[in-house]
Amino acid sequence: MLKNIILMGPPGAGKGTLAKQLKVAHHLVHISTGDMFREAIKAETPLGKLAQSYIAKGHLVPDDVTIGIVRDRLSQEDCANGFLLDGFPRTLVQAEALDKLAVEIHRPIDVVVNLDCDEKELIRRISGRRVCKNCGTPYHINTMKSKIEGICDVCGGPLFQRPDDNEEALKVRLGHYNHDTKPLLDYYKAKGLLVNFNSLVGSEDLFDEVSLFLKSK
Ligand code: AP5
Repeated sequence: MLKNIILMGPPGAGKGTLAKQLKVAHHLVHISTGDMFREAIKAETPLGKLAQSYIAKGHLVPDDVTIGIVRDRLSQEDCANGFLLDGFPRTLVQAEALDKLAVEIHRPIDVVVNLDCDEKELIRRISGRRVCKNCGTPYHINTMKSKIEGICDVCGGPLFQRPDDNEEALKVRLGHYNHDTKPLLDYYKAKGLLVNFNSLVGSEDLFDEVSLFLKSK
């Protein structure tokens, strides 16, 4: 099975939702740079204060900072049995740094799973997304409802709307995706690592398709 995985896709494509399903089913470590920054913001650490000034407006956190936190996390022992990188790399500088790091720590990337989704659907998903304040599980007010309104099915925590899930920040996030991140698809295609999936199918079907693919290799 392919176990060292990069999940790519625009904001709202379903990277976090899929990562949480794959993590449980295949015992992989989920490394989400977005979640790491949000935890640092919550804990009011110096990293959190720095990250907040970028994230709130939809901008990317500087490469050196982001590469540093991924380097620390990916080098930890629990990643030896497989990991899901969610939201990293997002720039060419990050992708090249990851190439070097992967060699250094003997954890080569097996596959890049890219989630395709059209912009209209991304906006619909992000504007209706609610996230658990405690465990980060994502929901949608119309299509992926929690059993009890406003309460997380997994841990019972309260659901809230991410502050960067507003129209203005989303425009900036989509701009960064198209300008900085989308070109990485060609980068990984040239390395023979890219596999595309249509994320317009429901989250359960998408999980089944990706799982089947990972297990078939
Ligand atoms: P991050 O948290 O990574 O945000 P993102 O990439 O914008 O992605 P999202 O979390 O918005 O979407 P997702 O694809 O995970 O979708 P989800 O599963 O939640 O990053 C946040 C910020 O941190 C960045 O803007 C940047 O500032 C900074 N940052 C992070 N990484 C960085 C880096 N490497 N470099 C620099 N800065 C960085 O799903 C969305 C909604 O759709 C949910 O409501 C869900 O219920 C629903 N849904 C999901 N899947 C499906 C499906 N298959 N069918 C129907 N509905 C679905």
